[in-house]
Amino acid sequence: MKKLTTIIMSLALALGLTACSGNTSSSGTSAASGTTSGTSSTTAPTDFPETAEAPTESTAAPTADTADDTDSQTGKVLVVYYSGSGHTEQVAQYIAQAADADLFEITPAEPYTSADLNYNDPDSRVSHEHDNEELRDVSLTTTEVNGWEDYDTVFIGYPIWWGIAAWPVNGFVKVNDFTGKTVIPFATSASSGMGQSGTILSELAGTGNWQDGQRFRSSASENEVAEWVNSLGI
Ligand SMILES: Cc1cc2nc3c(=O)[nH]c(=O)nc-3n(C[C@H](O)[C@H](O)[C@H](O)COP(=O)(O)O)c2cc1C
Repeated sequence: MKKLTTIIMSLALALGLTACSGNTSSSGTSAASGTTSGTSSTTAPTDFPETAEAPTESTAAPTADTADDTDSQTGKVLVVYYSGSGHTEQVAQYIAQAADADLFEITPAEPYTSADLNYNDPDSRVSHEHDNEELRDVSLTTTEVNGWEDYDTVFIGYPIWWGIAAWPVNGFVKVNDFTGKTVIPFATSASSGMGQSGTILSELAGTGNWQDGQRFRSSASENEVAEWVNSLGI
């Protein structure tokens, strides 16, 4: 009898050990794998070929904030723009007219003269800034918009410089909070498309619901601009 009890207890012990060792091996392999792969550089390219003509659809910028902020909508629209020689300003005015929007001009503390803007001169201000990215952090007279928080929709306009947004816009985009706002980039250029300009600006901003951009030729007509604005349904 005593011998039988010993055999039963040994069997029970052996079964218990087998069950434990099974648990240990399965939990030990699942946790640590797969968390470090896939980190890629987010450094944006800084130069674009002048002839790059990307279709508007491909300029869809990542949506930096997806929060549903629709409950505090005011319907107010703002057109922010930088213009070196007046073409983008003209388009901004057409947009403001069509969308019944307010205007805000981005003005560099040291305005660009026409000599500064001469991209054919390798010694011009803009050529130096193009060649040296550190010089593109242009001081602005102000980045503060009265009643900024009241605007639901913000158009951001700029000329294309060497395939990207003219950099005086960067300083404005970096310091303002676009959370809850729909942001619509637009540009004027001689021939280039929007390229990645909208995407790069949305990444600089880090907030806002950035939409596809629209490029206009430098001397776009009021009609074509108004048609585009009306197609947006804002
Ligand atoms: C420094 C500089 C770089 C430019 N680079 C381009 C370019 O890459 N592609 C293009 O089509 N036009 C280019 N242009 C032309 C302008 O984008 C175009 O004339 C624009 O409508 C100017 O707008 P603004 O009058 O508001 O400054 C460039 C102009 C300047 C001054």
